[in-house]
Amino acid sequence: MVGRLPSFNRPPLPDDWLVSEILERRLVLQHSSVRPGQSVIEIGVGAHALATVPLAHALGEKGRVVAVEPVRWEHFSEIVGASGVGDRIDPLRADGRRLPLRTDCADMSVCVHGVRSLGQDEACVRVLREMLRVSPRLCIAESLPDARTPAQQAHLSMYNLREDALLAATGHRDDLRYRNLVALCALVERAGGIVEEQKSVDVDLPHALAYFPRSMIGEIGDPVRRAQLAAQWDDAWEQIRAFGEDQPPVGVVLARR
Ligand SMILES: C[S@@+](CC[C@H](N)C(=O)[O-])C[C@H]1O[C@@H](n2cnc3c(N)ncnc32)[C@H](O)[C@@H]1O
Repeated sequence: MVGRLPSFNRPPLPDDWLVSEILERRLVLQHSSVRPGQSVIEIGVGAHALATVPLAHALGEKGRVVAVEPVRWEHFSEIVGASGVGDRIDPLRADGRRLPLRTDCADMSVCVHGVRSLGQDEACVRVLREMLRVSPRLCIAESLPDARTPAQQAHLSMYNLREDALLAATGHRDDLRYRNLVALCALVERAGGIVEEQKSVDVDLPHALAYFPRSMIGEIGDPVRRAQLAAQWDDAWEQIRAFGEDQPPVGVVLARR
């Protein structure tokens, strides 16, 4: 089976991936308790402002988003510029661990599918603490390591390789394995938050973003580790080909100071 896989393991994303991802963020944000007219700080905007655009839309004409991102601004202007809600969004190049913002300057802080990139627990807690300094409430939303369907399992099988493969190939740790809801709540509590609501949300949408090229594994120096990860990659890719790839359930945690 593995031998029949194409050697060019770099399929294009489906044409509608951006719309599909933005729709997923919109569904998730419906559980965030943001209200029209609020000012919201978003942490970890990412290269495509996937949550920023539906967030600004949900906040209405009088709402504002401060879009915080330290590094990845590649497509922000293009996407936000075309969104029709760009006048509600203020980009801020900053590290969420040290926000150049005054205490209580916003109604709420949110981080959507960003906890995975904030680092290990200590670094993550620092960001969450800052979120609770600049606003009295926070919402984090993150994929959960739960698969109820083969397509969700296919996503997890590929996604779960990213942390190790990225670290081994580039020396940079990102896309940490998804934490469960208990662990997400524990991080918020360590940051001084009082969890008011926690839930698992089924979004029932496709996902195409776990994929990374198999060639990245070829860059890993340790031959044993390289072979292990290559075999796991082949297995994950076979699952994606067989079942497609769907979003796992999303954990949503709402907390106050
Ligand atoms: C998974 S990505 C994009 C998440 C995006 N909100 C979405 O809906 O897909 C997470 C982003 O968090 C950013 N990030 C990492 N560490 C951060 C920090 N300390 N403060 C703020 N953003 C951070 C990364 O640069 C990355 O662009």
